Amino acid sequence: MCGIVGYIGKKQAYPILIKGLKRLEYRGYDSAGVAMIGECGELNVYKTKGKVDNLTEYCNDKDVSGCVGIAHTRWATHGEPSARNAHPHYSRSRNLAIIHNGIIENYADIKVRLQAEGVEFRSDTDTEVLVQLVEYIMEKKNLPLLEAVQVALHQVIGAYAIAILDRREPRQIVAARKQSPLVVGIGEDEFFLGSDASPIVEYTDRVVYLEDGNIALIRLDEELRVITILGEEQELKVKTVDIDLGQIEKGGYEHFMLKEIFEQPECLMNCMRGRINVEGNHVTLSAMIDHRQRLLGAKRIVMVACGTSWHAGLVGKQLFESLCGIPCEVEYASEFRYRNPVVTKDDVVIAISQSGETADTLAAVQLAKERGAFIYGVCNAIGSSIPRATDTGTYIHVGPEIGVASTKAFTGQVAVLSMLALCLAKERGSVSDEQYGEMVKELTLMPRKMELALKTNEQIRHLAPIFTYAKNCLYLGRGYNFPVALEGALKLKEISYIHAEGYPAAEMKHGPIALIDSEMPVFVIATHDHLYEKVISNIQEVRARGGRVTALVTEGDTRIQKYADHVVTLPDTLECFQPLLASIPLQLLAYHIAVCKGKDVDRPRNLAKSVTVE
Ligand code: G6P
Repeated sequence: MCGIVGYIGKKQAYPILIKGLKRLEYRGYDSAGVAMIGECGELNVYKTKGKVDNLTEYCNDKDVSGCVGIAHTRWATHGEPSARNAHPHYSRSRNLAIIHNGIIENYADIKVRLQAEGVEFRSDTDTEVLVQLVEYIMEKKNLPLLEAVQVALHQVIGAYAIAILDRREPRQIVAARKQSPLVVGIGEDEFFLGSDASPIVEYTDRVVYLEDGNIALIRLDEELRVITILGEEQELKVKTVDIDLGQIEKGGYEHFMLKEIFEQPECLMNCMRGRINVEGNHVTLSAMIDHRQRLLGAKRIVMVACGTSWHAGLVGKQLFESLCGIPCEVEYASEFRYRNPVVTKDDVVIAISQSGETADTLAAVQLAKERGAFIYGVCNAIGSSIPRATDTGTYIHVGPEIGVASTKAFTGQVAVLSMLALCLAKERGSVSDEQYGEMVKELTLMPRKMELALKTNEQIRHLAPIFTYAKNCLYLGRGYNFPVALEGALKLKEISYIHAEGYPAAEMKHGPIALIDSEMPVFVIATHDHLYEKVISNIQEVRARGGRVTALVTEGDTRIQKYADHVVTLPDTLECFQPLLASIPLQLLAYHIAVCKGKDVDRPRNLAKSVTVE
């Protein structure tokens, strides 16, 4: 949610900033802007509504010189998307420029105070309030930028990652974070700044992840300094990031989303590597070794997550309950954090998050922690806030996910939850050795089966135009396939803007059946499992009302084609692993429908990949 980039060094900043913004565009793209201190010492700010390409076009005839700069791609919270509200924002004197990701909750109070002192505002944003406050403090108290930022941040309530330039200090960037991510890259005679490491990895693999309450003083030809807002000097924790540039580029695919859908077999192998042994008969998770007693002692598992990650949690619930016999709940993090949930020290709370930065999930983790629960993270972004806030966890290791609609993270999360459930079940003795062996073996076969599931791509590409004109779609599934139905519907909504609902197939008759007609496509996940016969009855209920059915079936199925208009065939697998395969054609379906409709698949309107505001 909003992307931040910064550069200070000996090279021209502008091309580096623009490239960085493009890498971060998944975080927001309603407006973009850049600020550079030019060769003659002027602080130039350029900003436009819309995507980064609009900004570069606008800058074509502008002076973009300078070796220090900051840049921003916005996902609007306060103030409509417009050039006026885009970042960077100048201070009153235009000596300072700020970029910000997050929300300043008490901005209205501060604004009124500053207005009473004669400060005039040029935008409707909470961000401008912060830069005006910093300048006001600098002037009133005669403080340098760093100290004024410390004082200002004491007055601010909310979440932020910020970077500030001062025209009078052209060899410096001051950056700070609280609850919004910020990474500093350390190169040779140069520094980089990013909301995540993706704009940085091309230049250096040495990074410092700022902690909450940290301020970075980044000065050319000096060591990086990290100081708390209380002024305490922090020891530098330099980490090495291991992201291959190819992972964050499209690699010949038309869209990141398609690339990421097709990466799933390899992602799954990476996710299982070192966890399932080469013989394919045993799963080990380091978290399980390090925290065996605590995990085995769980009286209950509570999963907290948002969006697609919440759907993965619904699959996890069925695994933990059926394999391990542990009661399990799956909560929307945004609801959990504001209820007064019953959480005890006997609970294990699993936070599932691709980005590891989702504000509601992070807050839910903090609440559960305060109540003494043991916290387990299932995340993708290494070193992000949620893994750092948890007691232990397992990374899904699917590589950077850039497409805003999550795909490979879902299957990675389901795979990790499956491995965790298997470890727990084995240790608790709640599965037989035979069942355990069969399930582990099946997991190792999954990358190959995913490849077969991807072979449905051509068929789905041809089917997609039929559904382009639908206004509503229904996705039905039962058991392990119910979360798949939810996820399929979410994908379609996100990128094609067709309204879609996921429903448990039998529950359909308590409402959605009233909507069924020949205009509303119904997608049914009807793979071979213990509910197969029941799902066939549900398909017939749809057909009887003139509904048009597209069914996902298991290879060898001969019955469903009698009732369905279209049939898409998937490899056979164990019931509990169906989501790993059945989600793939539904991802492809949403993708091809959106492409047919000419939608911007990787940057759907109003969405952001990483939701760092609540
Ligand atoms: C946003 C994204 C979704 C994602 C959700 C949760 O809504 O657009 O794709 O599932 O956030 O994100 P997380 O990073 O916590 O998994």
